[in-house]
Amino acid sequence: MNAIIEQARTLGGYETSSQLLQLRDQDWVLARAMIEPKRLLDLGCGIGSLLQGAVERWPELEQVWGIERSQLRLDLARQQLQGTSAEVVLQQGDLLELPAVEQRFDLISMTAVLHWLYPSEEQLFQWVAQQLDAQGVFLFTSHHPLSQQGLGGEDELVAEALLAMKLVVPGHVRQHFNEHTVLPMGTRTRPKAELESIVRRYFDVRSIASRSAALRIDNLEQYQRFHAATFGTYFSPLVPFARIEEFFARLGTIAEQRMARQGYVTDIPVSVWRCVPRSSKVPA
Ligand SMILES: C[S@@+](CC[C@H](N)C(=O)[O-])C[C@H]1O[C@@H](n2cnc3c(N)ncnc32)[C@H](O)[C@@H]1O
Repeated sequence: MNAIIEQARTLGGYETSSQLLQLRDQDWVLARAMIEPKRLLDLGCGIGSLLQGAVERWPELEQVWGIERSQLRLDLARQQLQGTSAEVVLQQGDLLELPAVEQRFDLISMTAVLHWLYPSEEQLFQWVAQQLDAQGVFLFTSHHPLSQQGLGGEDELVAEALLAMKLVVPGHVRQHFNEHTVLPMGTRTRPKAELESIVRRYFDVRSIASRSAALRIDNLEQYQRFHAATFGTYFSPLVPFARIEEFFARLGTIAEQRMARQGYVTDIPVSVWRCVPRSSKVPA
């Protein structure tokens, strides 16, 4: 079995691949807290990098909590956070099935996770609103790729690969996604206005800062590893099992061609939202 496919199956290698994109947002996000938190919860904490960054930024932090679905990632987070002065609580859990906990937090963060919760993000927002201190801050990031017919961001590379492999004819990519019940990233990442109307049911939005987030690679293998660590086998149902290796090979080639042509592989704007508890309740 090809090493990239094995990596995709386990979502491994995030510690290296996240340096290309997700890790770059960490300081940018934390700088927006504008409080000195004592109790921080990071949702979908991955390998614990944001928690580690927070402990370094705020030595007064007393407790850091992480909730994450992948046990492999939680194990890496535990290693990374070993020896920190704050109490560390790491829990395996699904963000869409969280029980209420007694603890309240003055800072709750969630980076590069929201699109995985579509279409049930509201459930999570409701939970966060219950767990946040009255003076607390909720910071999360959202991604907003340019989307055509609901296909955007990573979907575009996948579409190019499917076309190159002659698994689909031009004009029918969206239909191919539908037939294989794969939700495109361009659909999972809601337009900002639509997202804002959901967020405002639970929070006052104090600021939304946005910037571009270009993904650049040195070689084709680096993109393959990034894709495997970030998307795993998410897009694999679009491809016959026997051609998965070819699919990952094509993705690498397409990424390299995009890099040569335009100087980046993808450039998906990212936004960081600074939210606080609602000052008044919205009518149901
Ligand atoms: C792109 S990674 C981001 C990790 C980290 N927050 C960061 O910024 O580097 C997305 C993470 O969300 C986790 N995740 C996705 N859906 C989840 C869910 N429903 N419940 C818990 N964790 C989830 C994944 O396992 C993965 O570690």
